[in-house]
Amino acid sequence: MDFCNFEKQVPRNGIVSLLSDFHEGLICQSDEIGTALDMCMSKNSKIIIGGDLTESRTPDHPYYDLTVADGRYDTIQAQCEGIAKKLYPARKNILAIMAGNHERCVRNVMNVSKEVVKDLGIDVPYGMVTLKAKIGDDSLLYFHPEKWSCNSQAGDAEQRYYNDVRKIRRKLRDLAGDCAVMAVAHIHKLRVGKPVAELALVGEKEDKQIYTTPEMFYGKVIPETQRWYCATGSFLRTRINGAVSYSEAGGYAPTEIGYIEIQMHQGRVAEVREIKL
Ligand SMILES: [Fe+2]
Repeated sequence: MDFCNFEKQVPRNGIVSLLSDFHEGLICQSDEIGTALDMCMSKNSKIIIGGDLTESRTPDHPYYDLTVADGRYDTIQAQCEGIAKKLYPARKNILAIMAGNHERCVRNVMNVSKEVVKDLGIDVPYGMVTLKAKIGDDSLLYFHPEKWSCNSQAGDAEQRYYNDVRKIRRKLRDLAGDCAVMAVAHIHKLRVGKPVAELALVGEKEDKQIYTTPEMFYGKVIPETQRWYCATGSFLRTRINGAVSYSEAGGYAPTEIGYIEIQMHQGRVAEVREIKL
């Protein structure tokens, strides 16, 4: 597992934003990348990029698709340059650039995240699929899996949402025992699961009711119910007229455009929220 320590770079009362899944090279990419970066810069939030910067497919790839490919970006190099150009205005806020499954598909010919970091002219950690970072006094784990689906088919929207959150928790919980926030890229949805206030009876007569809070576990192993879990959205639209992306072909629910904000308060994670665009 890759480990990066960002302790000195995160304001104790600031924001850390998690953005992922840009898929540069496809016509389905959302213009909201610019909006998201403007919002991050206006709040001076630090940014961690969770992978899938580029689609990383060229015309010789068996999955290359003329209906979704943007012909201006038919080389991986051009895709790297394209996404670097979009990220450039926010480059000073970027803390790390992870590698997604799409970059890893071409790891035999190009290190995409290294190339983008070079194009941006910044010196930050890059290329990891699992990032563990110190943010203030808390820790964050951010993961970009090779394969994962998170498509609950339960009866109503609320149940589907929380089923997805439970699945994210089950998948991430064992990857670290000391992280206040556990995040996943790749699934192209926005999801947030909060720490659960669990009732506990304490005292000799078991007559005192207390509810668990994350503060009770500062500096200790954090129980899986006392962490924040999230999925960090995407900037890849689906249901585009005439285009057949993985989502249309698979009949999946539409992707969600946006990112995640982690609000810090006095060096601790105070809230994690979806920014829907
Ligand atoms: Fe992706």
